[in-house]
Amino acid sequence: MTKDRKLIIAGNWKMNKTVAEALDLVAGLKRELANVKEVDLVVCPPFTALGAVAQAVLDSNLRLGAQNMSEHNFGAFTGEICAGMLKEFSVRYVILGHSERRQYQKESDALIARKAAAAHAASLKPIVCVGETLAEREAGRMENVLETQVRGSLAGLSKTQMDETVIAYEPVWAIGTGKTATTQQAQEAHAFIRRVLAGLFDEAVARRVRIQYGGSVKPSNARELMSQPDVDGALVGGASLEERSFADIVKNSI
Ligand code: 13P
Repeated sequence: MTKDRKLIIAGNWKMNKTVAEALDLVAGLKRELANVKEVDLVVCPPFTALGAVAQAVLDSNLRLGAQNMSEHNFGAFTGEICAGMLKEFSVRYVILGHSERRQYQKESDALIARKAAAAHAASLKPIVCVGETLAEREAGRMENVLETQVRGSLAGLSKTQMDETVIAYEPVWAIGTGKTATTQQAQEAHAFIRRVLAGLFDEAVARRVRIQYGGSVKPSNARELMSQPDVDGALVGGASLEERSFADIVKNSI
């Protein structure tokens, strides 16, 4: 498959894996994926395993991502983690505005935009998540919701910063439900997001930005999803927790 944009496949482990389990999984992924050069590979363990995983991936093609960070750089924010702390563990990517955080922590587009700015200031690459709920899709509001989220969550970023930003389209109704968006639904949403990016920045930026699909990605649907012209990778939840399924997703995407 030839696409101008290099695929990026990331595992979002969410609140799973002790340090020992994380090291086990990474050892397996290193074995399985050592020869993969065609795809940028990222693992996003919980904060508590970042230090151990950072050491384990040093000599590999796996890059490290975090699942969230504070908009602030330091100070009295109990329980929060800032960009500088992530940098200590050689973290390269940070997932921002995941739908679970939008839902449970009530994260707003404006907050996500401030976090994205803070990530860039620390040379971390944000993976900014957007996606509609089932109710929004059924009410015919998908495009409206996506446009609002894209514009709001990327507000204030420069064109140069967009080259170091990844977007993840994750329809909320497809996350952890076993329901994958059809390839056509995914392609339509990705193409729409790219049009919004063209309006917000310019055509060239829109053509370069990588847009991942997330939501029940598994080995059996990875190939078809990745073959869509505007799908540039995957943000994988459940299937990233096991070496076999994550490795097969990667191999089936190449
Ligand atoms: P699942 O792959 O478990 O549906 O999760 C997707 C997701 O939320 C990745 O961030």
